Amino acid sequence: MTHFAKASAPGKIHLIGEHSSVYGKPAILCAINKRVVVVLKRTAKDNFFKDDKIAREAVISIRSYIKEKYKVKNIPVWIDVTSTIPVGRGLGSSASLSAAISQAFFSLYRINAGPDEVFNAAYAGEKIFHGNPSGGDLAVCVYGGVIWFRKETENIKLIKKIKVDPSTFKNVLLVDSGKPVESTREMVVDIVGKKEVGKFLIAQEKLTKEVSDSLINNKQKLLRESIVSSGKNLEKLGVVGKQAQKIIFDLSNLGDSAKVSGAGGFKEGSGIILVFCKNISRTKKYCKEPENPLEFMEFKLESKGVIIEK
Ligand code: PMV
Repeated sequence: MTHFAKASAPGKIHLIGEHSSVYGKPAILCAINKRVVVVLKRTAKDNFFKDDKIAREAVISIRSYIKEKYKVKNIPVWIDVTSTIPVGRGLGSSASLSAAISQAFFSLYRINAGPDEVFNAAYAGEKIFHGNPSGGDLAVCVYGGVIWFRKETENIKLIKKIKVDPSTFKNVLLVDSGKPVESTREMVVDIVGKKEVGKFLIAQEKLTKEVSDSLINNKQKLLRESIVSSGKNLEKLGVVGKQAQKIIFDLSNLGDSAKVSGAGGFKEGSGIILVFCKNISRTKKYCKEPENPLEFMEFKLESKGVIIEK
């Protein structure tokens, strides 16, 4: 009998398609080299996330999915989580956690699940975190790499890997505009029924196709232009706060191409801004200016999605 299981999953960035993906439009997401690591141990009684009701319910929901689907008994567990993914910044911390917990439960149950099954069980957890998620975050955390994602129906999600020249992301920084006070769930609910949504969806779908073309055919200029346009559309939709808008404006004056990546936030911070830098040293200098100062990080693309750890 297995008493112990360990799994990890990467965080993500949205190149394009946040919010529109909830409405069945495509998104392009990249897994990044920041990971969450989850350890599950069998115990007599459940012992996890005592101060976090939502995370606790998400775990229970993932385990219930596996129990019902595979007709297995309940296994009470103790859970330990370590992570290098900043929380609540649009870097996929909850999707990554759901993916790693799902994989770890499958290992504990000694069920040899493929990525689709790890995704399905983890999706039960993601619904607890976000209410009506597209599944895009989770897909890239499970499969890794760079993906084209589209939620066709609740049960059919198109996930296609895109091969990308790693040099595409050589001069890219993630700049933190501050933690949003709104949750992803609140941001998604906030745009429901807005009159701008129809136009937004059409425009983002067109730009997402342009981004895929620019990645596949290494068209750097088109990539940067599409990124900027998609960010402007997110601003018009009202998911980008004043602080993030100012940073994006300042960076555009330096010749950078920047957009918010993820659900955003409008009252205070809007999470991570994805910045294709013209001159990375100059962008870092801007972030360090005493009147700003802004946290930033570099990253690499991560080809590995969720994995079983030894
Ligand atoms: O939670 P975040 O910031 O990674 O954003 C998720 C992306 C959304 O499109 C806003 C929601 C979704 O489910 O796709």
